[in-house]
Amino acid sequence: MYFDLTGQTAVVTGAGRGIGEGVSLRLANAGAAVAVCDLDRASAQAVVSKIEAAGGKAFAVEMEVSDPNSVQRAIDEVRNRQQRLDILVNNAGVAGRAAPIWEQNDEDWHRTIAINLTGVFYCCRAALPAMLERNYGRVVNIASLAGKEGNPNMTAYSASKAGVIALSKSLAKETAQKDICVNAVSPTVIRTPILEQLTPEQVDYMTSRIPRGRTGTVEEVAAVVHFLSSPDCSFVTGQCYDVSGGRATY
Ligand SMILES: NC(=O)c1ccc[n+]([C@@H]2O[C@H](COP(=O)([O-])OP(=O)(O)OC[C@H]3O[C@@H](n4cnc5c(N)ncnc54)[C@H](O)[C@@H]3O)[C@@H](O)[C@H]2O)c1
Repeated sequence: MYFDLTGQTAVVTGAGRGIGEGVSLRLANAGAAVAVCDLDRASAQAVVSKIEAAGGKAFAVEMEVSDPNSVQRAIDEVRNRQQRLDILVNNAGVAGRAAPIWEQNDEDWHRTIAINLTGVFYCCRAALPAMLERNYGRVVNIASLAGKEGNPNMTAYSASKAGVIALSKSLAKETAQKDICVNAVSPTVIRTPILEQLTPEQVDYMTSRIPRGRTGTVEEVAAVVHFLSSPDCSFVTGQCYDVSGGRATY
């Protein structure tokens, strides 16, 4: 099998639905035991049940990515249970409230940055020691096209995702001498519940900018994440892969 993950352990954050759910199903199908992490334990447990029904291995872990103690507890739980941590997919994220910058309050800004960017920092910091110990790891950070181009009315979101891309490149260089690869993935509009946080006009604007002329699917994102999570991805690090229907031209 290509991109075989048999025997490996993966942590996927924000895995209770949407892209995180799709990634968890895909990695489990390739043989990984998946720690389905989400602040909503019930939805994480529902994803675990789906994976188990399909013959895969998974377990639910409660994790609030913006809380360093919660992140450390969750990663410790995974390490104690599995004795290894091969794959970290930092996927948890929020869109924030769509509004021009002069209508954004402090809370709008801080919450989006805390979850989308600081959360990735906390998770990487907690998980890297397990990878360094075994000289193996794959980190995939879910950014967004907004982080490359900047979406109007989404300043905090766009800034947070640009930060995720830069964090991925920095961490890739810090780990380049090991068999550890760190990459980012930048989707455009993917039909998931996150779009409910935005106005229909905002979603239409973003969709109109996709040359392929349609929104993407969770499975299309999961396929790219799968490669970047696998041992086959051994000489690709510090990159940002777009899943954008041709929107990004660089
Ligand atoms: N859907 C899109 O169009 C799109 C496009 C580009 C990038 N992305 C990115 O992909 C990722 C997943 O998006 P999605 O569309 O699946 O979103 P979603 O809203 O459908 O799912 C997000 C999941 O993350 C969890 N979550 C939210 N905040 C959390 C926190 N603080 N700690 C732990 N878990 C938390 C939620 O409970 C939920 O299960 C996000 O980082 C998002 O920015 C999505």
